[in-house]
Amino acid sequence: MDATDGPSVIKLGVEHAPAGLVLSTEAHWNQTEDDWRVFLHEGVVFGIRDGARLVATAALLPYPGNNAWISMVLVTATHRRRGLATCLVDACLETARKNGLTSWLDATPDGAAVYGPLGFTPTLQLRRLRLVKSAQLATQPPSSATLEALRARDRRVTGFDRSAVLSAFAQRSGSRIVSANGAIALVREGRTARHIGPLFADHAAAALNLANAIAQSQDHPLLLDAVASQGAFLEGLTASGWTIERPFQRMRFGPATAAGADMPFAVAGPEFG
Ligand SMILES: CC(C)(COP(=O)(O)OP(=O)(O)OC[C@H]1O[C@@H](n2cnc3c(N)ncnc32)[C@H](O)[C@@H]1OP(=O)(O)O)[C@@H](O)C(=O)NCCC(=O)NCCS
Repeated sequence: MDATDGPSVIKLGVEHAPAGLVLSTEAHWNQTEDDWRVFLHEGVVFGIRDGARLVATAALLPYPGNNAWISMVLVTATHRRRGLATCLVDACLETARKNGLTSWLDATPDGAAVYGPLGFTPTLQLRRLRLVKSAQLATQPPSSATLEALRARDRRVTGFDRSAVLSAFAQRSGSRIVSANGAIALVREGRTARHIGPLFADHAAAALNLANAIAQSQDHPLLLDAVASQGAFLEGLTASGWTIERPFQRMRFGPATAAGADMPFAVAGPEFG
């Protein structure tokens, strides 16, 4: 890439998963190579190279019902503020436009500075929480639930049909779907911490009980992306030792499409919604 040239945007293939992982690891994100493969298999991932090196990415993951999730917007530190993220998100939006999709994303504060001027509007807020484990393991982990039960609840609550993504998560070694008192959640491996989400429940106490039961059955650090308006859940988590790491702002480009019946307590992750 020459400083005087406009960046040349390429479509990435599944062979780029390791190079994508280098970028997300540089940003201290939790994605694994398996996560990159979901975007590269199920979605469209755009990239910009400098010589042979991948220096920037953005992914568009279509969901049924004319929706798409934009994520993995990453620019290596030496190449920022040259318009690369803007150019790649534009490529995602053009793909969404051609396919009649409404685009959603969960923005970091730096990301929101890029997306606002492009025409994204804010919707709900999330809080990323981390639990560094010191507690001893409980004797009784929460009981297992089926992928079918999770898929049905996910669809009812979010309004998105995310069968492909949830199945991909569930098939990975280390993933578990668990439930207690009408609450249900998925736990999956991450690069540095296990991730809890999505998590659905009828009320905050059931959501908190399930999160705590999962925590007591794990000896790894845990991450969870809570919906900020679930105040009692958030307060319960912080009282149980979870710390808030960062906010995410959910944003939408295009007409509102998803009409979920309810609000999740924790989402699948900012990169998946
Ligand atoms: C956020 C990120 C993708 C931006 O990439 P980038 O290529 O530097 O962004 P752009 O050059 O397209 O920025 C376009 C505009 O957005 C705004 N912007 C971008 N980064 C910003 C920052 N750190 N602080 C404030 N404004 C910022 C500016 O208005 C900028 O225009 P300007 O440079 O002419 O002032 C990059 O900083 C990054 O990879 N950060 C770590 C990972 C991350 O947070 N990704 C976003 C996930 S939602």
